[in-house]
Amino acid sequence: MSITYSRRHALWLSAGLLVACRDGRSAPDASAPAPYGVPPGAPPGPSGAAASTSTSTPTSGPIADGATPSCIETHANIEGPYYRAGAPVRSSLVDPGMAGTPIDIEGRVMGLDCSKGLAGVELDVWHATNDGHYDNDGTMHLGREKYLLRGRIRTDAEGRYKVSTIVPGRYLNGPQYRPAHVHVKVRAAGFAELTTQLYFPGDPYNDVDPFIHRSLIMGTEKAKGGMLGHFDFVLRNA
Ligand SMILES: [Fe+2]
Repeated sequence: MSITYSRRHALWLSAGLLVACRDGRSAPDASAPAPYGVPPGAPPGPSGAAASTSTSTPTSGPIADGATPSCIETHANIEGPYYRAGAPVRSSLVDPGMAGTPIDIEGRVMGLDCSKGLAGVELDVWHATNDGHYDNDGTMHLGREKYLLRGRIRTDAEGRYKVSTIVPGRYLNGPQYRPAHVHVKVRAAGFAELTTQLYFPGDPYNDVDPFIHRSLIMGTEKAKGGMLGHFDFVLRNA
């Protein structure tokens, strides 16, 4: 099964959400987190395409889609409203029968010298379902003990990590879709905690999203039964 991020899909989903909100059947409940909002100075819609780097950590220059920055501190990115602490420790986030394109995301976590991988680093990962919902966005009513598409993994002795999951769907943030993305918090002793997001090459909303930093676009390739994503994290000292 595959997901196609076409504009037609986006419009269809948008129409569906509008209908659902009008009749009240699927509107998020009052306890659901607020949306991201819009960063200061960012234009509200696609016409503001280029204003995509309103985050705080500078990089040394443009980085092509799919290229993992090397020995440059990984750019922080907004946490968003859907983080939950206490996700289970597990390397696969996929529940039986879950819809979506399988993807393994793997790479290494390193310090700024990139001389070796960091062992025992915790990666706290969360993202939306293939139709763009989080377990705490007010649409699922799963119960507080259930963690959907969330998990914590640790790097091995060489600093390598691998998480198996599905490709997330886009969701509306105000009037505009966010590109597909995976949220990550990276925690390593002696290093500053990193909160960021990983993006997918070729998503048309990468060009209009006010939060994305292009250095966070993963390298991806087709793999047997799904996709493979690659991203190396570089942390600065605490
Ligand atoms: Fe998100």
